[in-house]
Amino acid sequence: MANGKALKLWTVNVISFVLFIILCGTGLINWLVLPRGYQARGDFLVSLRHFFIALHEWAGLVFIIFITLHIVLHWPYIKSNLKKSGIIK
Ligand code: HEM
Repeated sequence: MANGKALKLWTVNVISFVLFIILCGTGLINWLVLPRGYQARGDFLVSLRHFFIALHEWAGLVFIIFITLHIVLHWPYIKSNLKKSGIIK
């Protein structure tokens, strides 16, 4: 594999992993740790939940873009495997 492409894939993979960790963190904290609705008396926890929801949603959107880039960069490999297994000509 050409060095430039390997570096691109590595960068896309590292960024995807960081985004995945952010998604797991913000998703699980909001689900399992932070109180909901009237349980969250006081502004701070409500703001924190809203901040994590926004972060989760934007990280999710960017994650989808990076996974698409990952698939595009691997496309020749995916295509050759689909050909080898007879799924496409
Ligand atoms: C492409 C990736 C992802 C997208 C687009 C996405 C999107 C969303 C959205 C839109 C919500 C609802 C937020 C709201 O209340 O408005 C949500 C909730 C949640 N997500 Fe994700 N998510 C992604 C990945 C993940 C991952 C990797 C985890 C791993 C743990 C995760 C865990 C959760 C959990 C636990 C909730 C519920 C939070 C709560 O109870 O309030 N998500 N996600």
